[in-house]
Amino acid sequence: MTHKIRDQYEQLPYPERDPADEKKRLITGSPSHPGEIDTYIFGGMRDWSQPIKILVAGGGTGDSLIMLASMLAAKKVTAAIHYIDLSHAARKIAEQRAEIRGLQNIIFHSDDILNASSYGAFDYIDCCGVLHHLEEPQAGFKALADALKPEGGLGGMVYAPFGRTGIYPLQAALRSLVGDLPTREKLSQAKKIVEGLPETNWFSKNDFVGDHKNGDAGFYDLLLHAQDRAFTVTQLNTYLQRAGLGLCGLIEPILYNPSKYLPDEAEIRTRVKQMPPIEQAQLAENLSGAIKTHVFYACKSVSKESPFSHLNPPPTNMQLVPRLKNIDPEKLANHVTKKGRLTIGLNGRSYDCVLAKKLAPMIALIDGRPLGNIASTLGLDPISFQNQWRQVHHPLSEFNVLYYSRKF
Ligand SMILES: C[S@@+](CC[C@H](N)C(=O)[O-])C[C@H]1O[C@@H](n2cnc3c(N)ncnc32)[C@H](O)[C@@H]1O
Repeated sequence: MTHKIRDQYEQLPYPERDPADEKKRLITGSPSHPGEIDTYIFGGMRDWSQPIKILVAGGGTGDSLIMLASMLAAKKVTAAIHYIDLSHAARKIAEQRAEIRGLQNIIFHSDDILNASSYGAFDYIDCCGVLHHLEEPQAGFKALADALKPEGGLGGMVYAPFGRTGIYPLQAALRSLVGDLPTREKLSQAKKIVEGLPETNWFSKNDFVGDHKNGDAGFYDLLLHAQDRAFTVTQLNTYLQRAGLGLCGLIEPILYNPSKYLPDEAEIRTRVKQMPPIEQAQLAENLSGAIKTHVFYACKSVSKESPFSHLNPPPTNMQLVPRLKNIDPEKLANHVTKKGRLTIGLNGRSYDCVLAKKLAPMIALIDGRPLGNIASTLGLDPISFQNQWRQVHHPLSEFNVLYYSRKF
């Protein structure tokens, strides 16, 4: 099967990218934003003056690779970022993107990710959209876990079933009708079939997926893939545990909080609280219906039942440096002073992010200073500070807009 996967990505490198666009914009996202890596893998306390060795496993045309390499280079972090992919065509595009940006911190390999550990032990591995395409996903999880240093971690994305409702029956239909045709003809026939689908078809009804509208590579990847499966969050957790890894973060955490999909009633709240964290996450996935991928962080060193961040108490280490992702603290503080809440759209739904007006001065100080400095600037003793910080930390980190890093 691996040769079919390689052939697909040789003909249709994914995602479709024009290297010239590097002059105009940097694509950023999750997993693998360095601030997230710091928060979820290194407890927000990574010493970035130390070199970091990273693997981008199945790096494709280079989105995570270019984000990581550019952000680390911009902050002068010494990094060796290894890229592995089976597809030479995808690698060529990633190389061109790196060249346009003048990045010197990348080492390219054309190889199978199952050979990851032959390139050394890594502090961090990115593996986005790859493990669900392997013939034996467990072998992939294991190969990556074996390539990590004991204190290292993995950031990944795998498909999730319920948000992908309709895709698998449609893939089966297309396979039976046009699966034997050469790639270009297959694409053209399949597009006609998809355009003419009845409105009763679950794929036609599914608003959460849209990759088929993103060019030929997107269409093929979504609907004509040679090998693709989806994992519930419980299945993901099992794959990770069998590989010796523990789940230490799900992005965005709020999507995995079942209380967001349930009536606010005491008896229901109590039942939810009694569930172990992974069962709560599964309950949320079952109730939401909109989760089409799991973006996750996993560590070698966490306990098997590691809690997810929405259940964690806020951190107490006063040297931690909180940061807002793509939000200006002054602007957010002004907004909070006026409204006392934010409305955030995620996966087709609006969520309320409640931030009491009295927290505005604290929010304005999330400007790169440590928690200890925020407490002393506001003249708060440790207990009062923790009480207030909890009310900032929880709502903002649930939406993945607050993280902890001394550098990023
Ligand atoms: C869906 S693309 C994802 C690319 C990239 N990680 C991203 O998120 O933009 C999957 C990539 O994994 C690569 N791939 C699949 N199986 C692989 C394997 N066993 N070893 C190395 N690369 C693999 C494919 O060639 C393809 O470039």
